[in-house]
Amino acid sequence: MKPINVGLLGLGTVGGGVAKVLARNAEEISRRAGRAIEVKIAAVRDLDKARATAPAGLALTTDPYAVVDHPDIDIVVELIGGTSIARDLVLRAIANGKHVVTANKALLAIHGNEVFADAQKQGVMVAFEAAVAGGIPIIKALREGLSANRIEWIAGIINGTSNYILSEMRDRGAEFGTVLAEAQKLGYAEADPTFDIEGVDAAHKLTILAALAFGIPMQFDKAYLEGISKLTQEDIGYAEQLGYRIKLLGITKRKADGIELRVHPTLVPERQIIANVNGVMNAVMIKGDAVGQTLYSGRGAGAEPTASAVVADLVDVTRLLTADPEHRVPHLAFQPDRLADLKILPI
Ligand code: NAP
Ligand code: HSE
Repeated sequence: MKPINVGLLGLGTVGGGVAKVLARNAEEISRRAGRAIEVKIAAVRDLDKARATAPAGLALTTDPYAVVDHPDIDIVVELIGGTSIARDLVLRAIANGKHVVTANKALLAIHGNEVFADAQKQGVMVAFEAAVAGGIPIIKALREGLSANRIEWIAGIINGTSNYILSEMRDRGAEFGTVLAEAQKLGYAEADPTFDIEGVDAAHKLTILAALAFGIPMQFDKAYLEGISKLTQEDIGYAEQLGYRIKLLGITKRKADGIELRVHPTLVPERQIIANVNGVMNAVMIKGDAVGQTLYSGRGAGAEPTASAVVADLVDVTRLLTADPEHRVPHLAFQPDRLADLKILPI
């Protein structure tokens, strides 16, 4: 069967991770998707930058419109970031009848209502697992695993950079600015890191979660947000003495009179699991009326954890596009003939 052709907008931290994971796990990915997924072209700003993760022979362009207008591209993966050119590119890809995968929470929180309305009109998919909580499949959990539930609340650590900063300040006594610079170097932070430390990125993600949980439009402008930039070693030390950890939490709750949507530093009792989620890890708790309280944890930022979610979206979209019904339905199809080389090991 003909491969699915992908055009990447951006080949930075996440785009590079996507190219690497697609190449490394090509056999598993094509088996699960029902056909091969091939990156045909990628748009970047600087053609001369060294790119260890770019597959040999990949066409690079500095014109991102050449990707969204490319007649052979089936799925456009937007990993440029920001809300201006990214919005134009995504809307144009949709208008061109292309399916879109994006990790861009700012774009969805601010322009999501327009993006999804256009996608619906055009009959194309916009997948965004990587936009919230990095590698944790939280969108899938909310939309599929918990679809029987009336969601009561969601609360969690949904910004890896600020959790990394708070953890390192507490564990190593490191200075705020030093740890922020480390998070930037590790590829965790946003292009504008004030989004991480002032709670903006967490509020973008919370806006998306609330829209899915409660079936409301994206309303980022209504979120209350307060970041971690004013916290000091003293604050962290006092919290510790009283038996608490300071965590930047995003909280959205259904109340009798509406929905709460807030991001702020929170004192979490140290016996709670979420108080012990450290470094770049994220953790999200969701309470549903039928299931009760659930907890999901994993890496919240970085090249490969985020690529894991982007590629999962590529697999999902490809599976839905694949006409062959044998491949359309099964999610975790097993291969009886692989039993020989993948046997259960004795303990
Ligand atoms: P990044 O490392 O800065 O990569 C951005 C890429 O886009 C680079 O390859 C850059 O080209 C390219 N680019 C930017 N503007 C362009 C333009 N006008 N035309 C063509 N190419 C352009 O950013 P990132 O960390 O991968 O983040 C990408 C997106 O994923 C953002 O929306 C971010 O919020 C989201 N995200 C990131 C993470 C993470 O852990 N980093 C996790 C989840 C979601 P050059 O390489 O030539 O500079
Ligand atoms: N800057 C974001 C964070 C990237 O630190 O959580 C993942 O969305």
